Amino acid sequence: MTTSTLAAIIYKQGEPVVVEELELDDPGPGEVMVKIGGTGVCHSDHNVYSGYRRNDDLPTILGHEGAGTVEKVGSGVHGLEPGDKVVFAIRPMCGKCKYCSTARWNLCDPISSHQPSAQFHKNGTTYYAGLATYSEYTVAWENNVVKVDPDVRLDRAALVGCAVITGVGAVVNKAKVETGSTVAVWGCGGVGLNVIQGAYIAGASRVIAIDTNPSKFQYATRLGATDTVDASKNDAVEAVRELTDGGVDYAFEVIGQPATLRQALEATCEGGTAVLVGAAPDDGEVTIPMRHLFLDRSLIGCSAGTGRPRYDFQWLIAMYRQGRLNLDDLVTRTRPLTEVNEAFRDMEAGAVARTVLVP
Ligand code: APR
Ligand code: ZN
Ligand code: ZN
Repeated sequence: MTTSTLAAIIYKQGEPVVVEELELDDPGPGEVMVKIGGTGVCHSDHNVYSGYRRNDDLPTILGHEGAGTVEKVGSGVHGLEPGDKVVFAIRPMCGKCKYCSTARWNLCDPISSHQPSAQFHKNGTTYYAGLATYSEYTVAWENNVVKVDPDVRLDRAALVGCAVITGVGAVVNKAKVETGSTVAVWGCGGVGLNVIQGAYIAGASRVIAIDTNPSKFQYATRLGATDTVDASKNDAVEAVRELTDGGVDYAFEVIGQPATLRQALEATCEGGTAVLVGAAPDDGEVTIPMRHLFLDRSLIGCSAGTGRPRYDFQWLIAMYRQGRLNLDDLVTRTRPLTEVNEAFRDMEAGAVARTVLVP
């Protein structure tokens, strides 16, 4: 049997996304079909749309930050039933590779994705990131979804799978920011705002939000930033050093550019830590003065918030329901799936914190 579904497809990078109907197979062994309740518009999707990151698996259905309700389960699936609410995990968590065996779920090999056996019937269309959440229905490997609180709103829970775990996780799982420490964040997009709220939750005494688009500061302040620096008008490194008596304890780069990674490192005090969170361009390289490391600084990377989705998604959603994690102010706008191109334009214009598409 197949299910008809509307989905957002990229045929050619740099061209508009096409939203059209296609047929989706029933889930195969170890797979589940999910009815999408909400899916976030992340810069990683934009990178495929725009061609910033080359993708050779076209046509592909975009979307990796999402939540939904299990519609059907394939044979041999354990612990998931129709009606369960799930959040997609952006890494496949096979449970068997050397990374999963050592609880480094965020690095599961193959990191690129697990393509489900259930096919979307049209021109060999693939699942972007193995997930294809820009669709009314998708099929995912059971290890790519996490069952969550049945009472959570899906258009909010969607963000937990990418922006929230990537941002909050970088602070609490990787950098382990201590209460009272000082933090600077380069980039106040959907992910950067979650670094900001992660730092707030961790008890940072100062959270400096840096962006070239000052309209982002309204969100940053609502999510816990104590100071803002407009990098279009100021030297952000200088500004951070001045605000913090010579540099922050932790600086996070949440854009994915060599220049801002170097700035983040330069804004740390001696003994401080700079963390790369933004997705690195394939050929990106950064040069740093050795002296920075000699003076006890650390430069570290963080992929998908060094997350353990089956554990982290539960406490993140619990904290949202308790009012201690802000997902509502991250969603500036919801739109129907058919407006995906408009949502990308809003992202380019810096007009939103996050758009959530509701198919
Ligand atoms: N200095 C400061 N801020 C900048 C600069 C710069 N040179 N260049 C861009 N920005 C800001 C933008 O104005 C925007 O507010 O960075 C923010 C990026 O936000 P989004 O486009 O919403 O991106 P987001 O989804 O948060 O992703 C950020 O993390 O997951 C990765 O692939 C993703 O690399 C991307 C990064
Ligand atoms: Zn993402
Ligand atoms: Zn694995």
